[in-house]
Amino acid sequence: MSEKWGIQLRSDEEQNGEAARQMEFVDEARGLVAELSEQMGRQLISHITTFGCQMNARDSEKLRGIFAAAGFTDTDNEDEADIVIYNTCTVRENADEHVYGRLGHLNSVKRKKPGMIIGLCGCMMQEQHVVEKIRKSYPFVDLIFGTHNLYAFPELLVRTLKEKKRIIEILEATPYLPESLPTERKYPFKSGVNIMYGCNNFCTYCIVPYVRGREISRKSADIIQECEKLAADGVREVMLLGQNVNSYGKTLDEGIGFAGLLDAVCKVDGIDRVRFMTSHPKDLSDELIDVMAGNPKVCRHMHLPVQSGSDRILKMMNRHYDREHYRMLVENLRHAMPDISLTTDIIVGFPGETEEDFEDTLSLVREVGFDSAYTFLYSVRTGTPAAKMENQVPYDVAHARFDRLLAEVKVSAEKMCSRFEGQVHNVLVEEKNRQPGLVTGRISHNLVVHLTGDESMIGQIVPVRLIQCKGFYYLGEPVR
Ligand code: 5AD
Ligand code: SF4
Repeated sequence: MSEKWGIQLRSDEEQNGEAARQMEFVDEARGLVAELSEQMGRQLISHITTFGCQMNARDSEKLRGIFAAAGFTDTDNEDEADIVIYNTCTVRENADEHVYGRLGHLNSVKRKKPGMIIGLCGCMMQEQHVVEKIRKSYPFVDLIFGTHNLYAFPELLVRTLKEKKRIIEILEATPYLPESLPTERKYPFKSGVNIMYGCNNFCTYCIVPYVRGREISRKSADIIQECEKLAADGVREVMLLGQNVNSYGKTLDEGIGFAGLLDAVCKVDGIDRVRFMTSHPKDLSDELIDVMAGNPKVCRHMHLPVQSGSDRILKMMNRHYDREHYRMLVENLRHAMPDISLTTDIIVGFPGETEEDFEDTLSLVREVGFDSAYTFLYSVRTGTPAAKMENQVPYDVAHARFDRLLAEVKVSAEKMCSRFEGQVHNVLVEEKNRQPGLVTGRISHNLVVHLTGDESMIGQIVPVRLIQCKGFYYLGEPVR
């Protein structure tokens, strides 16, 4: 349960009451939007840009759902929108810079369209210094809210439309979960499902625990019910989302852990594939590996961020595992599921990282053989313990290491990717390819496949022969 500055996650009854209240604001917004549309002689247009992770992408689906329910038409082109929302990320500094850069552009658009509404939400807005900067230097921003009051977006939207003055509302913790809000999914056939919010791990480089708050798990019955509803609505693949899904259930009295939840989700009729993200190595249980191996609906993919191959650095990062433990997890996973895909996150240039530490990371990549790795240059985040550590690695040293790591990851990924050549795998077709006559989808192992086909195949799971590996993806042919 979240408790900070007096804010606590409210009871079920209060959650339901607040959800009903917000739906009344959706109705009110619909009335206001209809009036404005009539005055302008056209429909009002909304745009959302999402930065960052899958959790933000899921939050944006809720924003989009509320806009749609209020009568807005969605556009990909922010320049033509009447209201623009940036759902921000702050995990690394370049994400912040990107937002400031884009705001500069929006300002010039708004000068030509004075009625345009600009809103900011997401993780960056949970940082006081960011909100201060925007308050002072970005006067054209009309609405600012954070990760903990997404549930109140209908109310904030109504106020923005009515009050025509700047609104800044940030909470320090989550009183209400946003789960009952209308949602507009990007893909009809697959969906993210939040199973928990926040993070309690405090890895020393990471800002997430400060901006997303303490860990809260949703009740398993609510999660299952959401999966059932999604299945009834045509969803075939769900991705269970949390900063550290392996610690699911710790804040509940249900006696259920992530393995139990995964097993229960797999029992939902109509859901054919289950993915999850992200796993922390310190909490990955044998029971989870058993559930995965015993259940063909669970995708053969594990994203298991290692961050570094050096025990010394892992300790300084407060990761609570060492290289040997990580290697043992990989061994157990591969023993249970020999062809499983393994992907990871790696940070280069953490404070105090020596050439020897870095070489430990390179050798770990070689030893494990990752299917792919997201590699990041360490980025100083104000307020985290690592920001105050001595021996910050000079940029050019970190950059040179980053390039070497990228080359190593490429070798590993290409080798791993080619192991499926000639095999037949089920592909969930996701979209048309830019090249006519081709569609694109993913196999259970999360590898992308381009195959011959047409739009009618989107949302279907089809057997495909993986004919040619092109490094990180495959060209394939459906098997009739
Ligand atoms: N600098 C660089 N990378 C970071 N990550 C998190 N915080 C930082 C930071 N300060 C990376 C981690 C994490 C991923 C989502 O982002 O690798 O797993
Ligand atoms: Fe950040 Fe660590 Fe939590 Fe992941 S587990 S969100 S890296 S603090």
